[in-house]
Amino acid sequence: MSMDVRDLTGLPVIIGGGIAGLMTALYLAPEPALLLSRSPLGADASSGWAQGGLAASLGEDDEPALHLSDTLAAGDGLCDTQAARRIVYAAPAAIEDLARLGARFDRTPAGAFRLGLEAAHGRRRIVHAGGDGSGREVMRALVAAVRSTPAITVVEGIEARRLAVQDGRVTGVLANRSTGPVFFATGRVVVATGGIGGLFHDSTNPLGSCGQGLALAARAGAVLADLEFIQFHPTTLDGPDRPMPLISEAVRGEGAVIVDETGRRFLDGVRGAELAPRDIVARAVCKHVAEGHRVFLDVRERPGATFARQFPTIASACGKAGIDPASDLIPIRPAQHYHMGGIAVDLAGRTSVPGLWACGEVASTGLHGANRLASNSLTEAVVCARWVAESVAASPDCGGKRDITTYLPVPDPTPVRPLLSRGLGVTRDGEGLKEAARALLPLSQRHDAASDPAAVGLMITIAALRRRESLGAHFRMDFPHHATVARRSEITLDAAVAAARELASCPTLESVL
Ligand code: SIN
Repeated sequence: MSMDVRDLTGLPVIIGGGIAGLMTALYLAPEPALLLSRSPLGADASSGWAQGGLAASLGEDDEPALHLSDTLAAGDGLCDTQAARRIVYAAPAAIEDLARLGARFDRTPAGAFRLGLEAAHGRRRIVHAGGDGSGREVMRALVAAVRSTPAITVVEGIEARRLAVQDGRVTGVLANRSTGPVFFATGRVVVATGGIGGLFHDSTNPLGSCGQGLALAARAGAVLADLEFIQFHPTTLDGPDRPMPLISEAVRGEGAVIVDETGRRFLDGVRGAELAPRDIVARAVCKHVAEGHRVFLDVRERPGATFARQFPTIASACGKAGIDPASDLIPIRPAQHYHMGGIAVDLAGRTSVPGLWACGEVASTGLHGANRLASNSLTEAVVCARWVAESVAASPDCGGKRDITTYLPVPDPTPVRPLLSRGLGVTRDGEGLKEAARALLPLSQRHDAASDPAAVGLMITIAALRRRESLGAHFRMDFPHHATVARRSEITLDAAVAAARELASCPTLESVL
């Protein structure tokens, strides 16, 4: 597509083609907006890979207050209660919005949503589509809706690399296309770029999700929150494929159990067993593996004969790996899955930098606390997209003058992956974190393809070093005590670099952090 960027001056720019970005654009319409996507829409967004679905209190035995209480319990005391309340109360209407936009959710013969159960939910409240193809179906519907909305200009094959900031306000987006750099002059930018799985060897996310949105915001001076909280999904298919194929928690919701090579259900002593919060199950699985066991998911009895029909995507991944779930145990292990932390935002998605909003996994609203409740994230993306769009529409465009056209290389997280995979796993300790920080600091200061992923890794590492306690998904072997008062954390790139420099000059003085 040829494009005269001058025609686009002043339009709000939405960066990211997953559910958060698409919904923000759709809620903004008929106000014109520009949507930038690295890949063809629908091709490479982690939203499209979501199996579990969207959590909302739609069942007759359910209500938002129960959804809220499960969210707060899973979040281990760190959730922002007000944010969580507003989001879960808005969830049922958001599902209806998706259905109106054409998402074909699984329904009962009477036409009601067919609701699934996932870990740490006290009720069946997961809306899904095609069994385990929820993200794919929602993306199909939203991509079609966006493509038929004339107000939305979609530019594919483009990657945002820097935000221009003048006098503390956003004034534009510098992006790479195959033909070279391009600058979009705008005072309103929404970052909706997804997560950080590409920074780890073992992740369920697309490899290209390596924290680009966090880097954009951090280099523009934004405050980031709760970065140390990274969710590991306990049941991914243990094999050579990367990204790791996910085996949805919904399978355990339908009765599958976790066993070791002797057939023992080693989680039977854990409160909630296989349906305990994800951080607890992931740690128990890792501990059992460290003790020399192999770990499997057993679906033979439950869901049993209906497994392949209920979970066709997972059945197909098993088939490709030569596993027949009807007769074989499925080898599993935990892998990075979701980032609870992100760019600090209020409920209108406003960041600390005027003119910059964030939505979806890249943002930190406070909903997820220290451990996200399953299937709350797509719900959050849809609910918050509406509030972000309302806020963007109500803000005048005040920017758009500076024009920079430097080419910045495509981010490459290769040198960062081993550092985060070793230091920032299911369990951490001070020595491993300091080692990661020491290696990440020089990488983050270079001006090459690794420097943005390294800067993101460094901020996460310093946030994890600073939290000398255990809480939710952040478990410090050297500080195993549970936080007495859970407080959210904040960090900027400058603060992380300064802390890492002090650490490098005075390695024993962790208190400098
Ligand atoms: C799953 O299906 O287990 C994943 C759902 C989620 O991560 O929310």
